[in-house]
Amino acid sequence: MPTPKRLHVITWGCQMNAYDSARMADVLAPLGYAPATAPEDADMVILNTCHIRDRATEKVFSELGRLRVIKAARAEAGRPTILAVAGCVAQAEGAEILARAPYVDIVLGPQTYHRLPEMVAQASRAAGAVINTDFPAESKFDHLPDAAAAQTAGGLTAFLTIQEGCNKFCSFCVVPYTRGAEASRPAASILAEARRMVAGGAREITLLGQNVNAWHGEGAGGTLAGLLTALAGIPGLIRLRYTTSHPRDMDAALIAAHASLPQLMPYLHLPVQSGSDRMLAAMNRRHTAAEYLDIVGRLRAARPDLAMSSDFIVGHPGETEADFEATLQLIREVRFAQAYSFKYSQRPGTPAAGAPFQVAEAEKDRRLQALQDLLRSQQAAFNASCVGLTVPVLVTGPGRHPGQIAGRAPWLQPVHLTAPAALIGQEIPVCIVAAHTNSLSGEFLKEKACA
Ligand code: 5AD
Ligand code: SF4
Repeated sequence: MPTPKRLHVITWGCQMNAYDSARMADVLAPLGYAPATAPEDADMVILNTCHIRDRATEKVFSELGRLRVIKAARAEAGRPTILAVAGCVAQAEGAEILARAPYVDIVLGPQTYHRLPEMVAQASRAAGAVINTDFPAESKFDHLPDAAAAQTAGGLTAFLTIQEGCNKFCSFCVVPYTRGAEASRPAASILAEARRMVAGGAREITLLGQNVNAWHGEGAGGTLAGLLTALAGIPGLIRLRYTTSHPRDMDAALIAAHASLPQLMPYLHLPVQSGSDRMLAAMNRRHTAAEYLDIVGRLRAARPDLAMSSDFIVGHPGETEADFEATLQLIREVRFAQAYSFKYSQRPGTPAAGAPFQVAEAEKDRRLQALQDLLRSQQAAFNASCVGLTVPVLVTGPGRHPGQIAGRAPWLQPVHLTAPAALIGQEIPVCIVAAHTNSLSGEFLKEKACA
């Protein structure tokens, strides 16, 4: 038996990172690592970092500064600490991390997590730090132990990574450099993991990938539509979602799946970034605003209750007031239920970072404010439109107040209602009685519709 040790993982960024953190904990479990709640109690601390926007690197260094003190105090007490930096900052700035923070023991990129046990063994032996941020030829998916570790507490909703990396090379984005080229997991291993998750209690699975709808793995016809159809055949799996998609990969079969698969939830996160064709070209998005609107129209024809979510960037180099206005116009046409919006931030090594005509910070602030005002009003309108509807709610746990339970609507909003805790784990009909900024209140219906 390995000596019992404690592991503390700090995760920033996207759901892929959350999933990766769980898998890193999985690969370290055979070495005797169990979770620690605080870095002070941990024999190993992993910072799983995100590089997508600004200040990421500085955040990592400031956290490392704090951990350095903890590591020194533990060392004095005769308890060594292994400090690892993982994720996209590690991939992008590995050498810089070791130069500025030589007390870091391991730097590893997202493609090398399966080698973590070997790196830990090396780090405990050697004084010199271990750095591993290459893109190995073999896929990390082939080496990770199978686990249902990405299930959330209670296990009802789970994340399952099916694809990683990106070949799109949007002008502003670091992902193709940090996560590498697109790689898809074979259908058989995805289906096996999904079945295990369902056996462990999962009722909803969200498929993850940087470019999830570019999944072209072995089996299931090599398309996401085929994979979703296969997953929909798993008894007990009542809800499916996938994120994040690129408009270019929204093929006809995938749109048709939204009509034919009741398990596929009527909510889609489909980033558009801008509503200006000039900006979309500058961003190398390889689609126009009209093409995006056309996809949304076809999706809504397939699934009339489909709610849309998106990502937007304001202030990409060269963006004029007219370009920005075109983005507002696209938003007015689509009517989003939810969205994420960002000020453009220069990421070193990406094409846009060196482009002329960078937009002034104050102007970016103003545009972001206007964009978010519009998106907020659309989100409020969407939530208000749910009032009076009878919706299926997957009850995921107890609510905030005694006697309450909480769940999730098909469109991802949290729903709070007063009902017996025995309903946890079930999908129940709920009449929505009030809308709030980010959630809904409902009443449990024994009958199947609002009075
Ligand atoms: N600046 C601002 N936002 C960015 N995103 C990605 N890179 C940048 C950047 N350099 C946003 C995009 C993407 C989301 C995950 O993050 O909108 O869809
Ligand atoms: Fe980045 Fe564009 Fe790939 Fe999305 S599609 S991960 S924004 S390069």
